[in-house]
Amino acid sequence: AAPLTIAIDGPAAAGKGTLAKRLAAHYGLPYLDTGLLYRAVGRLADEQGVDLDDAEAAGAVARALDAGAIDEAALRGREAGELASRVAAHPPVRAALEAFQRAFAADPRGAVLDGRDIGTVICPGARVKIFVTASAEVRARRRTDELAAKGRTVEYERILAEVRERDARDAGRAAAPLKPAADARLLDTSELDIETAFRAACAIVDQAP
Ligand code: C5P
Repeated sequence: AAPLTIAIDGPAAAGKGTLAKRLAAHYGLPYLDTGLLYRAVGRLADEQGVDLDDAEAAGAVARALDAGAIDEAALRGREAGELASRVAAHPPVRAALEAFQRAFAADPRGAVLDGRDIGTVICPGARVKIFVTASAEVRARRRTDELAAKGRTVEYERILAEVRERDARDAGRAAAPLKPAADARLLDTSELDIETAFRAACAIVDQAP
């Protein structure tokens, strides 16, 4: 059989990362969080004083990125997510990160990748495509609770505004906008806890051709 490649896409804070990681562990597959690549480019561009609206300059930062040496812990926060979504709109940035992602996806063991355009652009031939969503309100609530658990109080309304802004930017851009592939299965986690969402995702994988 063809290797099991699983493409997980969806908006910010829908639970894709958690699901993708658990699927990877469950099926014994390597996992790539592609958002980290864009976060690293956004952070580097910002540190280097590059104009984030300059597509060519941001593209040069992306081409110089050592994708194998990304410091994940430093890139988790909301600010890096915001920087990422700004540079991710530029075609030269996306083009620079494509080869690394495709090579990862071509692993003969199979792979799990999560992002925004995995099913549509990076792995259009993936055996399994899941588009993970949840309402903006639920995503903002989860984010707010996560931050609170870390002792950080951020107002729910403010997080909700950020979630909506990121959705609009990711879905509204011309280059690889956030949207489900025609053959993706939708998984709305608004009413599901992690365990139930994980079992639903496994069912989708196990039913795949
Ligand atoms: O998933 P994460 O929140 O880490 O992604 C940060 C940002 O990177 C997203 O809001 C999106 O703009 C961009 N991104 C992308 N394509 C991907 C993964 C992330 O455009 N495959």
